[in-house]
Amino acid sequence: MIDQDALRAAIGEVEDPEIHKSLAELGMLRDLTVADDGSVRVLVALTVPGCPLKDKLEADVTEAARSVDGVGSVAIDFTVMTDDERASLSAGLRSGGADAREITIGARTRVLTIASGKGGVGKSSVTTNLGVALADAGKTVGIIDADVWGFSIPKMLGIDRPPTVVDQLIMPPEAHGVRAISMDYFVQPDQAVIWRGPMLHKALEQFLVDAYWGDIDYLLIDMPPGTGDIAISMSQFLPRAQALVVTTPQPTAQRVAKRAALMANKVNQEVLGVVENMSWFTGDDGKQYEIFGSGGGRLLADELGVPLLGQIPLVPAMREGADAGVPVTLAAPDSEAASAFGSLAERVDELRPRLRSHPELIIS
Ligand SMILES: Nc1ncnc2c1ncn2[C@@H]1O[C@H](COP(=O)(O)OP(=O)(O)O)[C@@H](O)[C@H]1O
Ligand SMILES: [Mg+2]
Repeated sequence: MIDQDALRAAIGEVEDPEIHKSLAELGMLRDLTVADDGSVRVLVALTVPGCPLKDKLEADVTEAARSVDGVGSVAIDFTVMTDDERASLSAGLRSGGADAREITIGARTRVLTIASGKGGVGKSSVTTNLGVALADAGKTVGIIDADVWGFSIPKMLGIDRPPTVVDQLIMPPEAHGVRAISMDYFVQPDQAVIWRGPMLHKALEQFLVDAYWGDIDYLLIDMPPGTGDIAISMSQFLPRAQALVVTTPQPTAQRVAKRAALMANKVNQEVLGVVENMSWFTGDDGKQYEIFGSGGGRLLADELGVPLLGQIPLVPAMREGADAGVPVTLAAPDSEAASAFGSLAERVDELRPRLRSHPELIIS
């Protein structure tokens, strides 16, 4: 005899791989029939037709059903939600209801912006690998690629499919345990993105309001190089964000990076710490070569009165990983760079945000 309630409960607990909520909660588990010989038939309603993660869902439901005593074969049929069902699902996911233009990030999510004074210092590489390292440590992580002109996160993470859209709510695709949203999904290849300030503001708003993030532990925001409109918009949307400033070891680079920190201060954002990238290269002879000089990260951290949270060495696997969509933390887990990101993730996680008495924005 199969305990049908236990079976329904076990299947109902399976998480939708995109929305990260249970099938029961999402109303996706429909019919359940159990035959005398112990074979089970389940009807699951997908949010959208051609759901890219259908196979994963099928495997997870089968496994959950088989975990119940007496269950023999498991057959799964799929149907698709109606427009009305999708509308009520997306309204339920938006905490304020369907018409609320509210940010979908949970109240306990820690928001970190990754900024620098100029491009090419490794912001996107740090964002990606820190994200994967945090996910490895069991955290749920999302990334917003706020570099709307020079987007790179989906490629670095190895995300190769567009997001699923459920009644205008965008489900950020995931790779290596990290969800990400990027302009990359929305522009044609080789198309230039030419936007003015208000449009940028609108695009970022959509990344926060029309993308579903839920109660994730970390939201990392890969900032465009330099300072300006996007930093101001982000601080308006997310006044509780903290900044990580990335610099290279060149002592003069620290002056450029300081501008990013000043910008953070200007929008009343706390600078959590400094990350020095491309700190050294370890040759086959085991010696560390300081190709871009040394001391820049320490200098900047001291000047800002914040900790130097990590030093990331130059490793070829890091660039290769970025091009191949396999972050170095996974491609070469024993590499110096991977362990540097592991410790960076630990440091970041230890540094709980300080409570601020005056959270209002000061934008001049
Ligand atoms: N520590 C590193 N070792 C080797 N290559 C790196 C390292 N950090 C960044 N890179 C490479 O340098 C280039 C610029 O890095 P990127 O993260 O795109 O910088 P940013 O986002 O600041 O413009 C990329 O090709 C990246 O793969
Ligand atoms: Mg970048």
